[in-house]
Amino acid sequence: AKGAAMVTAVAYRLADQTRQINETLAEFKLSHAQLLEVKKRMRTEIENGLGKKTHESATVKMLPTFVRSTPDGSENGDFLALDLGGTNFRVLLVKIRSGKRRTVEMHNKIYAIPVEVMQGTGDELFDHIVHCISDFLDYMGMKNARLPLGFTFSFPCKQTSLDAGILINWTKGFKTTDCEGEDVVGLLREGIKRHEEFDLDVVAVVNDTVGTMMTCAYEEPTCEIGLIAGTGSNACYMEEMRNIETVEGDEGRMCVNMEWGAFGDNGCLDDIRTQYDRAVDDLSLNAGRQRYEKMCSGMYLGEIVRNILIDLTKRGFLFRGQISETLKTRGIFETKFLSQIESDRLALLQVRGILQQLGLDSTCDDSIIVKEVCGVVSRRAAQICGAGMAAVADKIRENRGLEQLDITVGVDGTLYKLHPHFSLIMHQTVKELAPKCNVNFLLSEDGSGKGAALITAVACRLREQEQQ
Ligand code: GLC
Repeated sequence: AKGAAMVTAVAYRLADQTRQINETLAEFKLSHAQLLEVKKRMRTEIENGLGKKTHESATVKMLPTFVRSTPDGSENGDFLALDLGGTNFRVLLVKIRSGKRRTVEMHNKIYAIPVEVMQGTGDELFDHIVHCISDFLDYMGMKNARLPLGFTFSFPCKQTSLDAGILINWTKGFKTTDCEGEDVVGLLREGIKRHEEFDLDVVAVVNDTVGTMMTCAYEEPTCEIGLIAGTGSNACYMEEMRNIETVEGDEGRMCVNMEWGAFGDNGCLDDIRTQYDRAVDDLSLNAGRQRYEKMCSGMYLGEIVRNILIDLTKRGFLFRGQISETLKTRGIFETKFLSQIESDRLALLQVRGILQQLGLDSTCDDSIIVKEVCGVVSRRAAQICGAGMAAVADKIRENRGLEQLDITVGVDGTLYKLHPHFSLIMHQTVKELAPKCNVNFLLSEDGSGKGAALITAVACRLREQEQQ
């Protein structure tokens, strides 16, 4: 009888534990009504960002990019591109050929940006960038060609023309001093001058979302939205000039860099944020900022997971109640690990293998719980990203007075490309929340670099026409 009582006690404890874990994870499960609400709030913030009187205090900045049209196939020439702000820093040579057989040929080299440089001074950062360009030009054997350059700079910039962009604030892992409030094209030109070795013609500064949209639009003219679901999260789209009250003119369209990562910074998402989201935000380099991005991009999903795991361990539900040094380490769960853990092809034993690699000793039960935690966090990320996209698609549909809109989104980013379920859940959410839009997603290969070159090409052509 004593044995039976013990078995009952254990069973009871396990049931209670399961209930508590489920309760914790339930907070991440958003209902259709909640997602519709996220979509609606995004729409409100979009209007605030575009409005003359509301722009200043708006969180979703809706920044004009001075890109007025998508490519038409007549782009031509050799261009350099820089790509700063994603997973890697790259220098590229892009050869675009117009005519019957349009081609784009690319050569690129990846360079590391050491953490000391990311968190050092602006001069150090730009000296490093110029040094990398110099190395690339040597490598390609073209030091003396004064090529036009497009600078993909994936941070919020206040643009007054295509070739001027004042950095509003750093996002993601950057914390370089003396750059916020400065024109990054100016900083790049000064860096090139200091180096006294080669000359370049910096023609455009481009957000990665815009580069991605342009690259896809080159192949698919219905592409008028760009999306990045990677280290960070952001979108851009072609907005009517008459609605962009922060730039002069009412004719035609202009691409707007939404900077939607900052959605929620005024508290409007507080009811769906959890204690784990707050912990991730508080411990980040930019506390209080980019709250939506911190719920749906690669740089932060692993951190949310880690915070949940720490809490569950403290409560004795995981890892035998022992918080290891590994679990205390920030940034251990990179997108690639989450993607592996959530892969359907993986047996639980393999999940344990991955956790082992990360230095986490797990039981079979532990690995089930970890997989579940990853699942709810990435599902919510895909859903709120989809809710944002649904708001954008419906806005464009209304702009054009259409009952039904067919549109293509150019997408890039490690989360979108590597994660086994993110893209599918995001697509489904857009369908459910914007039923009057038929939204197509087109993966952009190497979008940000190629797009910067395309934008540079258009600008060079216009400049030549003006000079004639
Ligand atoms: C961050 C940046 C934004 C960029 C996005 C994706 O949100 O602020 O400019 O587009 O990351 O890289």
